[in-house]
Amino acid sequence: MFHATDVILKKRAGQELTDEEIITFIQKFTSGHIPDYQVAALAMAIYFQGMTRRETVVLTQAMAESGQMLDLSDITDYAVDKHSSGGVGDKTTLVVLPLVAACGVPVAKMSGRGLGFSGGTLDKLEAIRGYRVALSEAEFRQQAREIGIVLCGQTGELAPADGKLYALRDVTGTIESIPLIAASIMSKKLAAGARGIVLDVKYGSGAFMKTLEEARELAQVMVKIGVDAGRDMIALLSNMNQPLGRMVGNALEVREAVETLGGAGTQDLRQHCIETAAYMLSLAGRGQRWTDHAENCALIEARLADGSGLAAFRRLVQAQGGDVAMIDDVNLLPRAAQQVEVLAQAEGYASFVDAVMVAKAALVLGAGREKKGDAIDPAVGVEVAVKVGDTVRVGQPLAVIHANNSALIDEAKALIQQAVTVRSEPVEPMALFAGVIDGRTL
Ligand code: URA
Repeated sequence: MFHATDVILKKRAGQELTDEEIITFIQKFTSGHIPDYQVAALAMAIYFQGMTRRETVVLTQAMAESGQMLDLSDITDYAVDKHSSGGVGDKTTLVVLPLVAACGVPVAKMSGRGLGFSGGTLDKLEAIRGYRVALSEAEFRQQAREIGIVLCGQTGELAPADGKLYALRDVTGTIESIPLIAASIMSKKLAAGARGIVLDVKYGSGAFMKTLEEARELAQVMVKIGVDAGRDMIALLSNMNQPLGRMVGNALEVREAVETLGGAGTQDLRQHCIETAAYMLSLAGRGQRWTDHAENCALIEARLADGSGLAAFRRLVQAQGGDVAMIDDVNLLPRAAQQVEVLAQAEGYASFVDAVMVAKAALVLGAGREKKGDAIDPAVGVEVAVKVGDTVRVGQPLAVIHANNSALIDEAKALIQQAVTVRSEPVEPMALFAGVIDGRTL
């Protein structure tokens, strides 16, 4: 006879759970036969005691199989996908997907919304007037077949166990657990049907994993889960100590993505997108083509230079009902009533631009949500004007605050002042990546 309490006590005591215990727990939780408080208790036990790789793989499979498992073989015989573990100013999906599509590889991706300090692709896309993130499965498949690019919210019920568990973890202090994050991300990826998956696993102040070591462990676990499930996996370890690019906020990030696709944009965002897209090509080539990383990067750069990446983004927006005039002229995107500069008070070199502080400033202004379902303001956010290593002079703008409510500006300003540390000695720019784990060569 199965008792949820036995499973909780066993994990609390640091013992390894059997496959059957994990699978039954997830099945009964999904069908509503285990109350939330017992699931929250198990999450806390896992948070403190961890899980072995075997337990994590079983948990992920059970969560993936808690709902529909998509089969994308009518769209392409080898679908590729990407996923970021969550960051600040991470608009890479908006740039990477069109670039990969412009190389003739169909991309059909389901994204999520932002929560807490981490932004969400769906919220960014909704800054474009009319853009429909909710597609039926039939629409999703048709668009992928017809124009080779689709970017929307979940269609059917993919990994419903994760949806329920994530909501509980969010309010019980159990998000930052390697097995729980790995199972959460990978259950959705496995259910979404891609054969090749590039993971962008972030570390640093603006990531769930604060250290490179933790991020490496998370990446290794996720790659292993994917490989065990028969998927080709690549994980990039990327630095999330300072915001990626310069914009944090929904319409601001769409603007930056369009500018990047148009050949402009900051070097860090551009390079991050080129690398990610190149690895997606490498997976899509399946060892037959696109086998050289440097050549793949050059091909992606050519798609930036010839405008075909931007054209693919325009096609995507049009197909999903968005107002393409906002892509043709980014000044038409929602714009906040006030733009207020935050000025440097010290002279020297920027030694830290704390991603989480910038995210908090954007959150205060209304760009994100504290809890699921909160409304967001697409126009507000922060435009960061300095990168680690830049010289800073007294009185120069460190950032521009985009606000719709004057009462919130002082708090946001204080957070930005706290975010930027200036030193008198020169500082090296921050490295973008700290390594790559290629599951095909493990
Ligand atoms: N993203 C997810 O989808 N799940 C987590 O647990 C953390 C980040």
